[in-house]
Amino acid sequence: MASTNGTVLDKKSMEHTAHDLSNGTVKVNNWSSPGPAAFDFRSDVVTTPTTRMLEAISSTTLLDDVFVEDPTTNSLESFIADLTKKEASLLVLSGTMGNQVALRTQLLAPPHSVLCDYRAHILEWEAGGVASLCGALVKGVVPANGNYLTLEDVKKSAIISNDIHSCPTKVISLENTLAGIVLPLQECQRISAFAKEHGILMHLDGARLWEAVASGAGSLEDYCACFDSISLCFSKGLGAPIGSIIVGTKEFRERARWIRKSIGGGLRQAGVVTAAARVAVEDTFLGGKLAASHDRARQIAHMWESMGGTTTNPAETNMVWFDLEAAGISKEEFIAEGEKVGLRLLGGRLVVHYQIGDEAVQRLEKLMKAVLKGKGVEGTVDHKPEDLAIKVE
Ligand SMILES: Cc1ncc(COP(=O)(O)O)c(C=O)c1O
Repeated sequence: MASTNGTVLDKKSMEHTAHDLSNGTVKVNNWSSPGPAAFDFRSDVVTTPTTRMLEAISSTTLLDDVFVEDPTTNSLESFIADLTKKEASLLVLSGTMGNQVALRTQLLAPPHSVLCDYRAHILEWEAGGVASLCGALVKGVVPANGNYLTLEDVKKSAIISNDIHSCPTKVISLENTLAGIVLPLQECQRISAFAKEHGILMHLDGARLWEAVASGAGSLEDYCACFDSISLCFSKGLGAPIGSIIVGTKEFRERARWIRKSIGGGLRQAGVVTAAARVAVEDTFLGGKLAASHDRARQIAHMWESMGGTTTNPAETNMVWFDLEAAGISKEEFIAEGEKVGLRLLGGRLVVHYQIGDEAVQRLEKLMKAVLKGKGVEGTVDHKPEDLAIKVE
């Protein structure tokens, strides 16, 4: 079996490779190789943190971040502010916390509404947080082009009115990437200019903005210039174990610090989180590891389509969307067939992260062939993804 770097992938050889890489100085453990993540297409949140992250954690500073005293955390916040060319940033524990703290910081008192794509994470996947934390109406808009919101969509749905029956749009919250689809920079700039003209704030759920930038759609700086606040995740495609960050003005950051505390997000020895997050940004994003996953995602989409399958969304970054209904297979059956070839799947959406290698794609090819011929996969592989975890005493 080939691993992500083309060598044999079983538990013994993983242990050997890890030993070689660390010169035998670091104990071989679950940080030493991608392990089960190498066969997991469910999401990029499954990426395994690396030994470099572990080393950074073991040598991090351990001062208190509620007192704003931890050098590793302060330095990460300055580093991200510099990278995005914004005034300030603030560590949060997750992408959801980033969006919720940022929106609560931006929204003051009802009546107020947030305009977003109807598929947006803040609308569908954050437990109704904007309603409970901000008392805001969230208005989901269907993009006319089927892929991303345009200024024309926004203009049709934004509420700019003093009519007391209305619930005025106070924030336009965009998401990039959304379902792996890039929101073009020019469209962001158009929407941003409109928002500014009408005194509406702009927020970006940029959990995967890294992917849009890696695809060549625009620079981090140019995208961030369109927004008053941005949330970025370290623990998705970048591979950190924990953490996200929100970016904006100094004034935004200070109010956000208050809101973060109120929902229990003030951390003490935050260096254990920020040390690994710094490595994730440097190694995975700045180290240029994301673009290869985009190539692999396109390769998978092409393979599926060349076998007669269809996709429901374009594969512009690290996600591929198989139309399982058109292929005549249910989500549950597809997941079960995937298990037979040693793959973890969630349904028609496949997320290709940087720890997915050739072996996983070969297994996927076998699965695609069987599924598109209307047959089940024959036999089973000799190990399940979870068996690759190294047992540590
Ligand atoms: C676009 C987007 N935003 C926000 C989040 C929330 O991130 P978390 O799971 O860290 O709360 C996710 C999670 O997958 C996401 O896909």
